[in-house]
Amino acid sequence: MESFYIVGGSSLEGEVEIDTAKNSLLPILAGCILVDGEILLENVPKYSDVLYMCMILEHLGGKTKFTQGKFANQDLYIDCRDIIYSDVPNELACKVRSSIFTLGSILGRKKIAKVSYPGGCDIGLRPIDIHLSGLKQMGCKVVDKNGYIYADGSKLRSGDVMLSFPSVGATENIMMLATLTEGESRIFNPAREPEIVDLQNFLNSCGAKITGAGSNLITIKGVKKLHGCEYQAISDRIEAGTFLIAGAMCGKELVVKNVNQEHNQELLAKLSKTVCNLICDDDRIIISRTRRPLSFGEVETAVYPGFPTDLQAPMFALASISDGYSLIIENLFEARFKHIGELLKMGCDIRCKNGVCIVKGKEKIYGAEVNVPDLRGGAALTLAGLVAEGYTTINNVELIDRGYFHLEDKLSSLGAHVKRIKCEKKVDNCS
Ligand code: EPZ
Repeated sequence: MESFYIVGGSSLEGEVEIDTAKNSLLPILAGCILVDGEILLENVPKYSDVLYMCMILEHLGGKTKFTQGKFANQDLYIDCRDIIYSDVPNELACKVRSSIFTLGSILGRKKIAKVSYPGGCDIGLRPIDIHLSGLKQMGCKVVDKNGYIYADGSKLRSGDVMLSFPSVGATENIMMLATLTEGESRIFNPAREPEIVDLQNFLNSCGAKITGAGSNLITIKGVKKLHGCEYQAISDRIEAGTFLIAGAMCGKELVVKNVNQEHNQELLAKLSKTVCNLICDDDRIIISRTRRPLSFGEVETAVYPGFPTDLQAPMFALASISDGYSLIIENLFEARFKHIGELLKMGCDIRCKNGVCIVKGKEKIYGAEVNVPDLRGGAALTLAGLVAEGYTTINNVELIDRGYFHLEDKLSSLGAHVKRIKCEKKVDNCS
């Protein structure tokens, strides 16, 4: 088990470069299964979830290799021309939520698929009924048995697919399934996240004919084959948001680089209420603190372009030291509050009932030993440790590595005192 050891009280100063988006790379990696050619994804951080997706591609018969390109992170070479298998076993699927995204791409390429139920952060039940409904609406025969999804695409047909909820993963799955399905398919009520647009752009770089991603109707004209391409995915709006929240908490003159401001409108609106200095300058945002933050008021998570659920946990860290009361409502995942129990150990004042939380900001919170419950909860605990009095030990930081690459190094380069330590003992999540 690995932990962070943080000595609180530092201000963040300097420049931090935001990495390529985890939630773009994962569906794009699934999309590589459709491609009968060589692909080079540029500037790919070695998020553990990316490494798990590479293992899945290799299990199917694909090849993946990190190579040094012109960016700080290496490029990732992928070759799925020789995909021979169409199954994803439990020991691989259970590692990441995005394993379920391979259902659409394996089906699209092989017309048959057997994929075990996905894993991912423990933030709710996370069913896959909307994914399966989309496959059935395209003529797939789907059997859900013994923890596996068996899908027969021999009678696959293009057509209209209505999603009962704008699920990000289901939208991506259906887009990929329709890409190699002859005829025109349309997805109604799709998710509109920037990562959906990024997947469309990647697939179109390989010769797909997709339009409308980011809007309320996506149209896919099936093609026979996809060729290889070189592609750089968008920057990670959630990592950017995490650093901006850190800047609102303890930024002296923090320059967040490689940010797409358009993707963080909701967060920027909230942070501007905390009386910090926010300067947006092209793909850089400069944030600094001149006094204790004022409460941002209320945050209610919603599908894009609403406030992102992935920044809900980090907002608790900001609210806990802000002047005033804050209201935080989580509407997307019914069990995405496990970080609260850990924050209470640090002296935070948080009350919760039926998905609605009230945070009373405090002048001081205190270091403690806490356990990471999930990826974004871990980010919240790390931010809280930066401002807590004394030192904080954060256990199970491997969960943070799923979506932040070298977080401790980035924070240390900004003046924080964060060290990664390897521990013998294994702390099972108490939450
Ligand atoms: C994606 O998860 C992201 N993961 C999540 O990021 C993100 O929180 C989420 O979208 C919402 O933005 C990746 O892209 C790899 P959903 P996904 O399907 O696709 C329900 C992070 O921290 N639902 O949009 O799983 C579901 O239970 C991760 O980076 C069904 O009921 O999200 C949830 O309540 C966490 N049936 C809601 O929809 C389904 O078939 C949103 O889920 C599918 C989803």
